[in-house]
Amino acid sequence: MNTPRSYSGISTLNHWITALLVIAMLVLGFVAAYAPSENTGDYILGVHVALGFFVFWFILWRMVWRLHEGFPPNQGRTRFEYLAAYWMHRLILLALVFQVITGPLYIFTEGEAINVFGWFSVSLPLKSLEVLHEPAESVHIILGVYLLPAMIGLHFLGAARHYLTKRQETPADLS
Ligand code: HEM
Ligand code: HEM
Repeated sequence: MNTPRSYSGISTLNHWITALLVIAMLVLGFVAAYAPSENTGDYILGVHVALGFFVFWFILWRMVWRLHEGFPPNQGRTRFEYLAAYWMHRLILLALVFQVITGPLYIFTEGEAINVFGWFSVSLPLKSLEVLHEPAESVHIILGVYLLPAMIGLHFLGAARHYLTKRQETPADLS
């Protein structure tokens, strides 16, 4: 992996498209969980899964691009800030990869298909891996309901602190 001096235009686009998509996926996941009826919950989860089909490909592409381009040095001003950002960026990416793998795995190991807005559906014959069904669900829920929102919240606070106390432009900025 290289160590570029700054984020490329593609990285900046990738970052903000991912932010938009992941926040949409989180909102759909949470709203489905608190839906007033089972039917409404299933409908919202259907939208989560259909959008998830595209999110899957986008996260994979983003991950491959990051591995290809490398991580530019982050904006941490103290050693603690530097290490916190260093690990948070890698952990968020890893969590996203787990999230887009466990979602489809949960569906396929139940013998079901991903219905993409009624346009087409995708299935993989993984019913024989039924033993992975519940672990995939647990990982997806724990990451989606607790860990990812917490990491994104901390990431946002770090970015907000950086913007609000900015002293000078440094090259590796995604804004
Ligand atoms: C909510 C508003 C957000 C702001 C203001 C923000 C800001 C930033 C900034 C400034 C950086 C560069 C950090 C540096 O060089 O030190 C960065 C990197 C990063 N952010 Fe965000 N971000 C936001 C949301 C998100 C969300 C929702 C995600 C994930 C779903 C995310 C994932 C990442 C990742 C993985 C990196 C590392 C570099 C990369 O691979 O793109 N960010 N963010
Ligand atoms: C970054 C991407 C994703 C995020 C942030 C995310 C987030 C969530 C959240 C928060 C829930 C919890 C709903 C609850 O509390 O019941 C959930 C459930 C679910 N997600 Fe995702 N998800 C993502 C990607 C995917 C993908 C790609 C698929 C499949 C194509 C998928 C399929 C599902 C399914 C089937 C459930 C329901 C699990 C159950 O019934 O227990 N998700 N997701």
